[in-house]
Amino acid sequence: MAILICGGAGYIGSHVNKLLSRNGYETVVFDNLVYGHREAVRWGSFEQGDLRNIAELENVFRKYRIDAVLHFAAYAYVGESVTDPEKYYFNNVSNTLNLLRVMREHDCDKFIFSSTCATYGEPERVPITEDMPQRPVNPYGASKLMVERILRDYGAAYGLQFVVLRYFNAAGADPDGEVGESHTPETHLIPLVLDAANGKREDIRVFGCDYDTPDGSCIRDYIHVYDLATAHMLALRRLEKGLGSDCFNLGNARGVSVLEVIDSAKRITGRDFKVTMVGRRPGDPAKLVGSCEKARGVLGWNPVYEDIDTIVSHAWQWHQNARY
Ligand SMILES: NC(=O)c1ccc[n+]([C@@H]2O[C@H](COP(=O)([O-])OP(=O)(O)OC[C@H]3O[C@@H](n4cnc5c(N)ncnc54)[C@H](O)[C@@H]3O)[C@@H](O)[C@H]2O)c1
Repeated sequence: MAILICGGAGYIGSHVNKLLSRNGYETVVFDNLVYGHREAVRWGSFEQGDLRNIAELENVFRKYRIDAVLHFAAYAYVGESVTDPEKYYFNNVSNTLNLLRVMREHDCDKFIFSSTCATYGEPERVPITEDMPQRPVNPYGASKLMVERILRDYGAAYGLQFVVLRYFNAAGADPDGEVGESHTPETHLIPLVLDAANGKREDIRVFGCDYDTPDGSCIRDYIHVYDLATAHMLALRRLEKGLGSDCFNLGNARGVSVLEVIDSAKRITGRDFKVTMVGRRPGDPAKLVGSCEKARGVLGWNPVYEDIDTIVSHAWQWHQNARY
């Protein structure tokens, strides 16, 4: 039996592929390589294809006996989702329906979904717990929330078993340096800061330094991509044991400010670079921090790389020798 990893050539999926393979799972990566990298698929089998093409998906389900699906494939640029919502609803929602349809046709009933803290929108308080209202403020977050709703309905009607994982800010890289983060365009803070340290960017811009936070910059919750990967394996085991569908935040409950990330990068790289303060971006909440008590208690999740310096140093190690 194989595990299908849709979007497994991307950042988070490639780390999950490594962990599952190392733990004895047969994996199959399905990715159209629009944003993913062939070089990131270093374990298991690779099938190039697009979720919008049902025939390509059916071929994969005929070729392998797929026991469970991990679904990372989506578009994730918040700003673009505002200017081109159709692109997001089509890929993130409609193409997910294709995947769920082919799964049903092949009696595959276990599904793990990459959701996001963006489904909560601007939270009333932090840390955010799973029972708080989900009021996304952009089409990206809305597209992920729609899939969450679809999963609940498919669970009730068709017996689909699923785990929804709502990630906060995925960060860092494989501690062995075999895979890492490489988005084009890059919008995530840590790789951008490391590009500034590397001299690939002139400066790093800080959007807003007058927030109601100790140093005035925004606070976010950075979760190491290895720890995200272990949560997926635990979620998969939960489904394999038939323990039922559920949703979990994956964060570390300890926010780190933008300026603290920059300080960490200067410390780890030993390099100085220019930091430019600019105005706030609309829709950026001051503090986004997730509670991961539920994942710890129910899944038995125990993140090991919580310290920002460790996260930045693994990212830096990758950044300096990146293969893609
Ligand atoms: N990176 C984060 O901090 C973060 C936070 C919250 C949620 N997420 C979610 O986690 C998932 C993975 O994020 P990532 O950072 O690894 O993104 P990524 O872009 O690196 O990976 C996504 C992969 O999906 C593939 N893909 C996209 N559309 C496809 C399609 N129609 N058919 C086949 N393949 C397709 C891309 O080529 C890419 O390899 C996404 O669903 C994202 O929304 C990410």
